Amino acid sequence: MSIEAKEEFRPKIVAFCCNWCSYAGADLAGSSRLAYPADVKIIRVPCSCRVNPMFILRAFERGADGVILCGCHPGDCHYTSGNYYARRRMTLLFSMLDFIGVENGRTRVEWVSAAEGVKFSTTMREFVDKIRSLGKNVRLEDLRCRN
Ligand code: FES
Repeated sequence: MSIEAKEEFRPKIVAFCCNWCSYAGADLAGSSRLAYPADVKIIRVPCSCRVNPMFILRAFERGADGVILCGCHPGDCHYTSGNYYARRRMTLLFSMLDFIGVENGRTRVEWVSAAEGVKFSTTMREFVDKIRSLGKNVRLEDLRCRN
């Protein structure tokens, strides 16, 4: 067994968080000293509906093992209905990704409010555990982006 195989798998996780709720929830988790894995890289977006499906495909292409989209709870979107659009869009995208071999567990949508630091931390820990159990993602990976 090689040395690399013995090393613990450290997944690359991309978390798109809307500015008004989820990013504030992540902030609260941080200021409340609630730990979540450093494997999660947060990208702040104005609203969950700002996340174009191409962003998710590009993340996988660049080597992400899992992508999570966090936004305000339904009915709480700062832009009234952005998260409804995001939810519909992601439902279609995730089923298409599953069809081409990117397992459903590698993608997730979660609603996290600014007051839910605990939920943010728990969700991220659960998601990272799930990705660890699935292992490295090889679908859609662009080999030119490998480091
Ligand atoms: Fe948070 Fe739209 S502003 S989902």
